[in-house]
Amino acid sequence: MKLFIDSGDMDEIREAQAMGAIDGVTTNPSLLAKAGRPTKETLLAICEIVDGPISGEVLATDFEGILAEGRELAALHPNIVVKVPLIEEGLKAVKTFTDEGIKTNVTLCFSAPQALLAAKAGATYISPFVGRVDDTGGDGMELIEQIVSIYDNYDFDTQVLTASVRHPTHFIQAALIGSHVATVPFKVIRQLLKHPLTDIGLARFLEDAKKIPAS
Ligand code: G3P
Repeated sequence: MKLFIDSGDMDEIREAQAMGAIDGVTTNPSLLAKAGRPTKETLLAICEIVDGPISGEVLATDFEGILAEGRELAALHPNIVVKVPLIEEGLKAVKTFTDEGIKTNVTLCFSAPQALLAAKAGATYISPFVGRVDDTGGDGMELIEQIVSIYDNYDFDTQVLTASVRHPTHFIQAALIGSHVATVPFKVIRQLLKHPLTDIGLARFLEDAKKIPAS
């Protein structure tokens, strides 16, 4: 499974990249607002750090507006993936982007039929928000299972990008189910790395090493 970082923070992205951990980056308007710079500037800076798919989201909600904004984003760098909301005008735009060879990430997916329609429009990635499904009393990982099965049944090329990942269990479940990608906040990437027995074991080795004769 590919691991993307869900962030607009350059320090986090640099650090995750240095760990060799990440294959790409996703952003959204909320993350870019925290970055405190104009969107294009942030996306270009990310492209300098990570050589992989970098999702940048359109803000328009009408067909022509989404097309104009998406084309502008895609022209910034070959690694840019245009993130489009899962609405009717968005799906029409995804179909056009697909015909033009522009990669898309269809976002704000909360149901299997939505994901099926996005795949039919030719989406490169579908982003189901598992954490937000859990927040409303649903089962986010069950949604991933459904979408992976449906895409497998009909050999869709659209990749399932598990998003709104809140903890390591979401990540592991996504990998077990066969999600193609999970996008994960930096805090959770760090949690993936941690194990108390690793820390205890290392401390013991370093303590015992003091007893090794110097020569
Ligand atoms: O990038 C979209 C998604 O990952 C948002 O996550 O935690 O705001 O639901 P969250």
